[in-house]
Amino acid sequence: MPSSAIIPADARAVIFDAYGTLFDVHSAVARHMAEIGPDAARFSEIWRAKQLEYSWVLSLAGRYEPFWTLTQRALDYAFARFPNVDGSVRPLLLEAYRRLDAYPEVRDTLRALRAQGLKTGILSNGDPTMLNAAVNSAGLAGDLDAVLSVDAARVFKTSPRTYELVLQALPVAANEIVFVSSNRWDIAGAAAFGFTPVWVNRLGLPDEYAELAPGAVIASLRELV
Ligand code: LAC
Repeated sequence: MPSSAIIPADARAVIFDAYGTLFDVHSAVARHMAEIGPDAARFSEIWRAKQLEYSWVLSLAGRYEPFWTLTQRALDYAFARFPNVDGSVRPLLLEAYRRLDAYPEVRDTLRALRAQGLKTGILSNGDPTMLNAAVNSAGLAGDLDAVLSVDAARVFKTSPRTYELVLQALPVAANEIVFVSSNRWDIAGAAAFGFTPVWVNRLGLPDEYAELAPGAVIASLRELV
């Protein structure tokens, strides 16, 4: 039985987005600040923004490439935008992206949710190889009932076919699933699908997609338990 005010009493599973929600996507660049130099923060923002843009453009065009491919293409675009950044750091950044830092509250939150009888899982754009590498390097595999990749549907979020994968994997109905993401666009997709979305707005960003609103907004995953 959930104990927080955030998770409805009839919820049976809490499903998390991965990149940006459980894993800090900027921790790869943060580990190599010295090599990248003064443009490091903008470099990381562009890397992330292009990775996502490529996922949406391919999906709308009816095409699919694994998220790892898009991650590499987006990184190459960031290098092209910042020609002063030494390209020899590329393999180090990709290696770091496979072992991103999990946010500090992730493990305790997952364990506390399961102790309340809730199932926990991930639904991510990440392809299975990169997703499993991140989950294993953060030591989270034992705290998750399901690690689901959109790769099985060969389309990216916010296609309803991706959120549907959760219903295929767990014996729960859409309205019994709390979907947690730091990405406001992902919250919009989850709301449209019929999940109960919880937006982790760590940075205090302005709201968007008013017609596809979150059920709750939190500043840290700790507020789930
Ligand atoms: C994910 C990306 C979109 O994990 O953050 O699905």
